[in-house]
Amino acid sequence: MQLFEKFKIVGVFPALYWPEQEMVVISDLHLGLEGLLAQSGIMMPHFQLDALKEELQAIFEETAASTLLINGDVKHEFSRTSFSERNEILELLQCVLQYVDEVYIVKGNHDNYIYYAVQEYPEVLLEDYFLIDDVLFMHGHLELDLTLENVDFRYIIIGNEHPAISLQDEVGVKAKVPCFLYGPLDIESGRRIIVLPSISKLSSGADMNDVFEGDFLSPILQRIDVGKLQAIGLADELLEFPAIERLRG
Ligand SMILES: [Fe+2]
Repeated sequence: MQLFEKFKIVGVFPALYWPEQEMVVISDLHLGLEGLLAQSGIMMPHFQLDALKEELQAIFEETAASTLLINGDVKHEFSRTSFSERNEILELLQCVLQYVDEVYIVKGNHDNYIYYAVQEYPEVLLEDYFLIDDVLFMHGHLELDLTLENVDFRYIIIGNEHPAISLQDEVGVKAKVPCFLYGPLDIESGRRIIVLPSISKLSSGADMNDVFEGDFLSPILQRIDVGKLQAIGLADELLEFPAIERLRG
């Protein structure tokens, strides 16, 4: 499905494709989240990395991607010294580099020490943000830097928020589906924003129909009219929702 004139949602995956750049964009992998849940008493096998590798293979098979952009939060927790965490990132990169030539990683708020894992890979670029043509990729955990105001971008793509929509059927059964959000960043400038869903299976995210301005995780979303954004939910098919303000109870 087309998102604005430039991008496409890949199948029903939490992945965006930018054909002009042959680029797949994903966000918020949160690898290793199982370990953190185990510390709080919720035991589950480590499955996220294998599931992600399978999903990425399917995503790449549906596109002609030569670049993968990860828009922040590769690892859930990352310390400088952990070999297992480093190995998870290396295993992911080795898998991804079978399909694409380059990987761009935007540093998220969980990615403090990721440099130590990726520095040996010349194919991997790590930055706080990427401006490619008129598209600005930022994780979204920081204010839109005022020094960027003169940067000539027309689209901003963020992660961080893990947007989802809650659905309830007539007997009251609730389900939460991850979603893309898209719409105006601000009316005057004509700039547009896309908020990517998290690709993590363990982090389905915040209900956009139940969160109001000021309560959003991302300071960028705190400053814009999220009610005007539209959502596309990811289920067995893509679910096109009206503007968020019409979904609020
Ligand atoms: Fe995240």
